[in-house]
Amino acid sequence: MPQPKDASSTGTQTGEYDRVLEASNLCRQYETGGEPVRALHEVSLSVKKGEFVTVMGASGSGKSTLLHLLGCLDKPTSGSIVIEGKDVARVGDRERTLFRRRRLGIVFQTYNLLPTLSAAENVALPAMLDNINQREVERRARQVLEQVDLSHRSTHRPQALSGGEQQRVAIARALMNDPALVLADEPTGNLDTQHGAAIWQLLASLCGEHGRTVVAVTHEADGATFADRVVVLKDGRIMGEIQPGGEDHASVVASGYRELVG
Ligand SMILES: Nc1ncnc2c1ncn2[C@@H]1O[C@H](COP(=O)(O)OP(=O)(O)OP(=O)(O)O)[C@@H](O)[C@H]1O
Ligand SMILES: [Mg+2]
Repeated sequence: MPQPKDASSTGTQTGEYDRVLEASNLCRQYETGGEPVRALHEVSLSVKKGEFVTVMGASGSGKSTLLHLLGCLDKPTSGSIVIEGKDVARVGDRERTLFRRRRLGIVFQTYNLLPTLSAAENVALPAMLDNINQREVERRARQVLEQVDLSHRSTHRPQALSGGEQQRVAIARALMNDPALVLADEPTGNLDTQHGAAIWQLLASLCGEHGRTVVAVTHEADGATFADRVVVLKDGRIMGEIQPGGEDHASVVASGYRELVG
């Protein structure tokens, strides 16, 4: 269990946690009317501050289910999800939603930007809704756009940006609340290989240079090669982990993955 220096009963103040995330024995069963679908079985995942972890698995292996649980968008059937010392699986819906808004940053495959707003306005919008001082919001928006290397595009609307740039805006928006954990679901799913690699590199640099903690799920080995650790998921179960390393990260991940999924 992580020991906070600055524990908060609401879980909305930042404290120093060595383990940002401690998910234990997560199960998620979907009741569909017919046979229940067991999407996750006894999944446990522990992530340290500053780590970049990817979860890799085939379509239907449970990646989005896991990400939705970690992102407080859904509740597990059983198991616990402790983020910054708070078990978000045990709290009520309203508290979980507040925790997500204040302490998590989530990035999806589709960028979900508002077409009539500029990049900077899209980034600032969630904080504006939270009634934070406008000057402070603008200062923070400039700062996060700089972190994703988009300062020069801040006044552009989404339609004037490439897919990769739009995803950078979405990542900047996810950083606005200084999140404990950034979660990404197939963040390069709509991008070509080159732009996709740049997004993976950006996520890695957010961890390496800016001390962020990132968990990203993906079905492709490309992104996984940038991670500190690759957790392999198959049929809702964790099969093992790969540590990319050596001269050729991509082949280490590809052969490790083949070995684990059989
Ligand atoms: N709301 C739901 N109701 C019933 N079954 C669901 C629901 N959501 C997901 N599932 C099932 O749970 C399993 C895991 O789905 P999930 O979306 O987590 O997979 P995934 O690894 O993200 O796949 P993909 O790579 O295609 O996005 C699948 O068998 C899926 O059909
Ligand atoms: Mg998915």
